[in-house]
Amino acid sequence: MPNIKAVNHIAVVVDDMEKSLSFWRDALGIEVHELRDVPVEKSQVAFLPLAGSEVELVKPTSDDSGIAKYLAKRGPGMHHICLEVDDLDAMLVQLKSKGIHLINEEPRTAADGKKYAFVHPESTSGVLVELYQV
Ligand code: CO
Repeated sequence: MPNIKAVNHIAVVVDDMEKSLSFWRDALGIEVHELRDVPVEKSQVAFLPLAGSEVELVKPTSDDSGIAKYLAKRGPGMHHICLEVDDLDAMLVQLKSKGIHLINEEPRTAADGKKYAFVHPESTSGVLVELYQV
C-alpha cells in the first residue's frame, strides 16, 4: 500500500510577486530560498521553505500558460496542495481503482527528476492536489 508522508508544499498563484512577497517574506518573515523563472511552465516561482514543507508563489510570465488562464479565471489565491507519497505509481493505481479523476494518469517527471501527478479537484472537494514522490 502506498503511503502519504507529508505536506510537501502549498502553491499560491500571484499576479504581483513583489506585492505577494511583502506579506510572505517581509511581514511573516519567511526567508526566500529561491526566486527563479521556469520557462517550460511560463512562470516565475518563489520558494519559501518551512520546517519540512514549503510555500511556493507562482506568477505567470506569459498570457497563454495554464497558470495565466487560472489567474484570469479565478484571480490570485490558493492553487494546489502537494502531498508527498512513497510510491507514486502504486498510489495512481489505487486512486484509479477507486474512480478518482486524475489529471495525469501517468507520473510526470520534473526538471529535477522528481515524479509528480495531479488529481482533479472534482474528486477532492475542490482542491487541486499534487502528488510528489521524492
Ligand atoms: Co506544486
